Amino acid sequence: MSNFQLYYTVTYRRARDESKIDWHSDEPPRLLVEVVDALGGYGRAMDIGCGTGVNSVFMAQHGLQVTALDFVPEALRFGIKRAQRSGVKVDFIAADVTKYETADKYDLILDSGCFHGFKDRYRLLYRERLLNWLSDGGQYVLIHFGRRHALGLIGPRSRTREEIEDYFAPELRLENFLSETWGKPLFQYRFRKAGE
Ligand SMILES: C[S@@+](CC[C@H](N)C(=O)[O-])C[C@H]1O[C@@H](n2cnc3c(N)ncnc32)[C@H](O)[C@@H]1O
Repeated sequence: MSNFQLYYTVTYRRARDESKIDWHSDEPPRLLVEVVDALGGYGRAMDIGCGTGVNSVFMAQHGLQVTALDFVPEALRFGIKRAQRSGVKVDFIAADVTKYETADKYDLILDSGCFHGFKDRYRLLYRERLLNWLSDGGQYVLIHFGRRHALGLIGPRSRTREEIEDYFAPELRLENFLSETWGKPLFQYRFRKAGE
């Protein structure tokens, strides 16, 4: 297990109450709400690094068929309970996004707080998968926290908007960007894959 995975495992294992987890929010991010509304209850979605599944359950409650992926089983346990409480079906998968393989395609892929922690070699594996999994015309919502972890080793790696945009170009085109503060700087990106 990498230090990165260990950090998340210990955090979720220690958390009796998910609302105490540093990055937890019960509110789905604004750009995600907009996309889900526009999809009108149809489509397949993937939540990469779903954590306790707040956003996965939100998408399922709005009619999407959701796959939620996280490499920490303790996080998924929170998500499974949340889905049960909410009476929705979410397909939770314990896997590392940089290793996971699937032939499935998604109309919406969400990443809230996962990608921004990756070092370069993992970002490349991530990019390949993201582009394979996103359907033509599909949308990618990326939520990027702006603050680094106090130790500077694990938490968000600062990237500018231009760097993020360049990183996914030319296959993905940035269609919307929001900068907000939810206790911490929060950058929201909505990209679209060419093809529609
Ligand atoms: C900052 S948390 C955000 C959780 C959730 N998306 C949210 O917004 O509350 C990042 C999540 O990504 C997961 N994660 C990090 N690297 C991963 C990887 N390589 N594969 C799968 N999940 C990963 C962590 O376990 C953690 O749950």
